[in-house]
Amino acid sequence: MTWKSIRIFSFGGPEVLELVEYSTLPEPGMGEVRIKVLAAGTGFTDSFIRRGRYPDFKGPLPFTPGYELVGVVEKIGDGVTLPCEGELVADLCVVGGYSQYAIRPTRFLVKLPEGLDPAKAVCIPLAYLTAFQMLTRICHLPKGATILVIGASGSVGTAFLDLARHLGLKAIGTCSAKNIPAVERFGATAVNYHAGDFVTTVRTLTAGRNGGAGVDAAFDAIGGSHFAQSFACLAPGGMLVGYGSQTMAVGGEGMLSAALGLARLKLWGAMPWLFGARHAAWFSITERRLAYPDQFKADMATLFGLLRDGAIDPVVIDRLPLSAARDVHMRIDAGGLGGKIVLLPWAGL
Ligand SMILES: NC(=O)c1ccc[n+]([C@@H]2O[C@H](COP(=O)([O-])OP(=O)(O)OC[C@H]3O[C@@H](n4cnc5c(N)ncnc54)[C@H](OP(=O)(O)O)[C@@H]3O)[C@@H](O)[C@H]2O)c1
Repeated sequence: MTWKSIRIFSFGGPEVLELVEYSTLPEPGMGEVRIKVLAAGTGFTDSFIRRGRYPDFKGPLPFTPGYELVGVVEKIGDGVTLPCEGELVADLCVVGGYSQYAIRPTRFLVKLPEGLDPAKAVCIPLAYLTAFQMLTRICHLPKGATILVIGASGSVGTAFLDLARHLGLKAIGTCSAKNIPAVERFGATAVNYHAGDFVTTVRTLTAGRNGGAGVDAAFDAIGGSHFAQSFACLAPGGMLVGYGSQTMAVGGEGMLSAALGLARLKLWGAMPWLFGARHAAWFSITERRLAYPDQFKADMATLFGLLRDGAIDPVVIDRLPLSAARDVHMRIDAGGLGGKIVLLPWAGL
């Protein structure tokens, strides 16, 4: 039986994504399962990896991209007791999702409740879990607190807004003019960061609050010098969480600027008394999963429960076959998608 997968043989632009056909099915080894992939999430982190600039994955080449997947366990390898064959699972695989089949270790697989749409469910492992853990594990925000989401129209950004609505938080989100509706549909206040200094706008929007102008928490994946702008939006006692270096990923700033941004986060985190009790932290979903595997599984289960109950609603803007992977990456690189494009590996055959 033949099957297909996207492969990257050298780092570069969207043109390095190649659709490859195989003639034999991959077999799971000890402690592994073969998953028939029903949905693969796409997003900026895949582009980051494709460019060869992602710090946590540098190969080896060739490899199959795709940070997250949802699929059915088709065959279990020796030593596997759970999950069982036929179960629907999700995986934050970092690479390997853009494929009809994936061989995966069982350690971090999470079983899905019955009846979920795989395309919506695949928005959970990276975008929603990242936002959820920053909102609930890193910051401990009471209902009514105000947050600032930088890049609010993106996959993680819209997950923040959706979860903020669910958790009873007020959200302000920065975005481009054309994405204002994508931010406002969650009841958030949109700030077009191209139209002027967003720090002034955020401080004006929050003037007159008890405790001083500014937000209680800000979330920023732009990185580098941008962290200082987000930090300037905090109210006294507020917290900035940095979780990306997007300008470095696209070559807008160098490694030095990204490193300086991280150093600033460390300084603000270590000496909050110097900054009006404002503080800061770095977040990485993969580092946190390794440090707190039980929280990872518990939080994934919570989010899948919220999805099943209709309490959250991920924005899937397109469902496309594997053969569209290059076009999808061109769209991701152009920016401002306003949601997630999901690849359906068995569609369009
Ligand atoms: N640390 C972690 O655990 C973790 C986990 C997941 C993702 N990430 C990182 O999070 C970032 C976002 O990922 P994603 O999948 O949500 O990407 P995405 O869907 O491409 O969204 C990114 C958004 O950023 C906005 N943007 C671009 N430049 C901006 C700027 N200078 N100021 C403000 N907004 C800007 C764009 O919106 P407009 O076009 O509307 O401006 C775009 O929609 C990536 O850097 C990714 O690597 C980190």
